[in-house]
Amino acid sequence: MQQELKKIEAEARRRLELVSDADGVALIRSEVLGKKGSIGGVLRGMGKLPAEERPKVGQLVNEVKARIEGFITDAVSRLDNMAESQALEAGRFDLTRPGRQVEFGAAHPLKQVERDILSSLERLGFTVADGPQVEHDWYNFEALNIPEDHPARDMQDTFFLAPRVVLRTHTSNVQIRTMVKRDPPVRIVAPGMVFRKDDVDQTHSPVFHQIEGLWIDEKANFRDLKGVLKRLAISMFGPDAELRFRPSFFPFTEPSTEVDVRFKDSKSGWLEILGAGMVDPAVLEAVGYDPEKVQGFAFGLGIERIAILRWGIDDIRTFYENDTRFLRQFGRGAL
Ligand code: PHE
Repeated sequence: MQQELKKIEAEARRRLELVSDADGVALIRSEVLGKKGSIGGVLRGMGKLPAEERPKVGQLVNEVKARIEGFITDAVSRLDNMAESQALEAGRFDLTRPGRQVEFGAAHPLKQVERDILSSLERLGFTVADGPQVEHDWYNFEALNIPEDHPARDMQDTFFLAPRVVLRTHTSNVQIRTMVKRDPPVRIVAPGMVFRKDDVDQTHSPVFHQIEGLWIDEKANFRDLKGVLKRLAISMFGPDAELRFRPSFFPFTEPSTEVDVRFKDSKSGWLEILGAGMVDPAVLEAVGYDPEKVQGFAFGLGIERIAILRWGIDDIRTFYENDTRFLRQFGRGAL
């Protein structure tokens, strides 16, 4: 029976390689796979087999059928191509045929938010800066006015890789990295991955993304901060976004604020979107700047949070699962 199946397959393949028109393909299909076809013959013969062999042969039959279907598909596309090139050569071409659909990729929603924020800030004169994800305690905490044993460290549950080496808990390390390297004025924006010891659930992920902004010069003040954030909010959420500045605390800014957004005509109320404040003089001193001569502000926001608000997404995990049914909805522009 196996022999017979092999023969049927080989014969079908040979005929399909030679067939020269669609009728020929249809004929082969019915002679091989049709009700009264040769495969059907084999199936009918199965009744005579001992019961325990039937599933094995059944599976074999299915495999052979699938392969023959494949040969048929190949033959059909070979004939299609042939017809097309003959028509082309003869100067005939069916201009009314629908075109082939081209699939475009799209940037991931988190990337889209990041790009929108960066380009809005770049228009305000910010340049993009970068820093390491594996960071020394000094850049992630100490220079940001968070000494060892300071309770503020509890705000950010940290992954330690070695005694004073951490996965950065925020992008604020790039503030320090940049100021240590460069003299003022500084106007940078730093996107990147950050890490906190959180369990994964609908609203938490141990890895997420932030964008940090820093503006230091002789006179950058709180009003400038508000202006920048207002522009940013409009670029993220459109002109209907209203901002509210709430007093808050961060060790590296003084005064500090948390900023909420609200949409006109929406019942959702105020939603927190970022932290910000005037850079604390202790931070300026740590990087060797003179707090009597320069000042400025910093802000940090979570990209996931913005994307969640922007599109009404209710589960942060959808950003990381790479399910194309989810991602396709954000198709826009090129990669
Ligand atoms: N680094 C802070 C956080 O991750 C955000 C922040 C950045 C606040 C800069 C103030 C200034 O929560």
